[in-house]
Amino acid sequence: MSKTSAAITAVGAYVPEYVLTNQILETMVDTNDEWITTRTGIKERRILKGEGKGTSFLAINAAKDLIKKRGIDPKDIELVIVATATPDMKAASTAAFTASEIGAVNAFSFDMDAACSSFLFGMSVAAGYIESGRYKNVLLIGADKMSSIINYKDRATCIIFGDGAGAVLFEPNEENLGLQDEYLRSDGTGRAFLQATYGGSSYPITFEAIEKGAHCAFQEGRTVFKNAVFNMADATVKILERNNLTKNDVDWLVAHQANKRIIDATANRINLEEEKVMMNIHKYGNTTSATLPLLLNDYESQLKKGDNLIFAAFGGGFNWGSIYLKWAYNS
Ligand code: UT7
Repeated sequence: MSKTSAAITAVGAYVPEYVLTNQILETMVDTNDEWITTRTGIKERRILKGEGKGTSFLAINAAKDLIKKRGIDPKDIELVIVATATPDMKAASTAAFTASEIGAVNAFSFDMDAACSSFLFGMSVAAGYIESGRYKNVLLIGADKMSSIINYKDRATCIIFGDGAGAVLFEPNEENLGLQDEYLRSDGTGRAFLQATYGGSSYPITFEAIEKGAHCAFQEGRTVFKNAVFNMADATVKILERNNLTKNDVDWLVAHQANKRIIDATANRINLEEEKVMMNIHKYGNTTSATLPLLLNDYESQLKKGDNLIFAAFGGGFNWGSIYLKWAYNS
């Protein structure tokens, strides 16, 4: 009897209209287009504007895009997971609000946060529910309004991040397509190098913290960079070795979009041709939980049933890893 695997069967996405270009950033902090482009590969990012609009706004629109494209009835959705590092509020679940707004009234829902690896780890969680046999579909949304925790006076951080959301549907597959293997890791000693210190339970928000911008994301870029380069490449090599794959078996590298140099380093470590590396960092920057589904959405028309996709991510925590997934449909 063949084992039921968990496949991605639909993709949707949403990015806000406002485009924050490198040229506009030049007017806000001491930076320039040439520095940002050569050090990160980013040319522009999207920013969500509007009073009271949070991550759920992005998540809802990405989910609606998927629902429309796939033509499913939201009442049939059984579980909604919102992978995010920037929930709408501290105490009320962003996923519950999102599920209600899209009409997924028969679903249960929850948020999950593993910083920039939220969506990658979310794939593991979503697939687990399907593989268990207890659920026949899971809507996994990666969404972040990073601009809500960015200090636009900190040039080492503000140039990288943007806002956006992507959604995928996981369903059972009897052809052994979908998630094949995963290698996921965490190292909590990394949190010193990438965090938003104030606003959580260790350091509740204060007037002084807000004045200093200590409620915003801070990173020691160089340390994060070195760890990202090593661990994303290492996880990718491990997942290939464990599954007896060579670079010729890989159709696509789907890597977290934090810095083009980190993505290139991962691809170079396995000698992968540039045309097999999904890339959209130039237009969205680092959207944290949304980078991987935004890539899938941008490349969906080029993906073929049976393609071998290698996902890789690294982020705050530190959290990182790699997932091997076989694509399940032609669009
Ligand atoms: O999503 C996961 C989390 N984040 C990441 O994965 C990000 C990882 N880190 C990075 O991508 C890079 O470290 C950055 C893009 C953040 C910085 O690039 P870098 O090549 O590591 O630069 P650096 O921090 O080593 O700084 C080099 C120089 C410094 O000047 P001095 O000390 O050499 O005079 C910085 O002050 O560049 C300066 N610098 C800037 N210059 C112009 C830093 N930020 C900027 C800027 N514009 N925006």
